[in-house]
Amino acid sequence: MDQTSRLGQEHLLRVVYSHQQIASEVARLAEEINKAYSGRELLVIVVLKGALFFAADLLRGLRIPVRVDFVKLSSYDGMMSSGHVQLTKDLDTEVAGRDVLVVEDIIDTGLTLSFLVDLLHKRGVASLSVCTLIDKKERRQAQFDPDFVGFDCPGGFLVGYGLDFNERLRELPSIYEIVENNTGEVE
Ligand code: IMP
Ligand code: MG
Repeated sequence: MDQTSRLGQEHLLRVVYSHQQIASEVARLAEEINKAYSGRELLVIVVLKGALFFAADLLRGLRIPVRVDFVKLSSYDGMMSSGHVQLTKDLDTEVAGRDVLVVEDIIDTGLTLSFLVDLLHKRGVASLSVCTLIDKKERRQAQFDPDFVGFDCPGGFLVGYGLDFNERLRELPSIYEIVENNTGEVE
């Protein structure tokens, strides 16, 4: 079954970032983080589920000591953010006094990360920065500027490399935009 037929005839997938582009961007980000945190130990907080693939690749490019933990937040229903963020899986680790790096797949409205960043500050982190693979600014609602950014993306709904559409298509190695199929043709 090809990727298009998994979506149905009304949508197509258009490649936005190939897996080669992703790999070189992830390597660049890892180097930036290595430089910024040289000589320190980092607690890396991965935002499930989307950032799992990105974090797995990014972490293997780091040469500083790291611990890894996971949170799960939810605000999405299909392609729309509900605007209401919930913590559905909390950390196992005490964050007070730690240097923390949050790893996210994509920032859209900014509501999810604003919520998480507030929470981590309240818990007393020593320092906090955010690394996102994709920064999608067109629908930003909460003022939010990530510290490490892979790709600046103009918009659209993206899938693949961890990004899902209703829990599907995360496993695709490249990142695609879901576009309307006006022609009736299948890509
Ligand atoms: P925000 O709260 O609107 O910034 O949304 C952040 C979360 O929404 C991300 O962690 C993703 O899980 C999800 N998200 C936002 N845009 C997309 C997209 O284009 N494709 C898939 N998931 C997305
Ligand atoms: Mg996410």
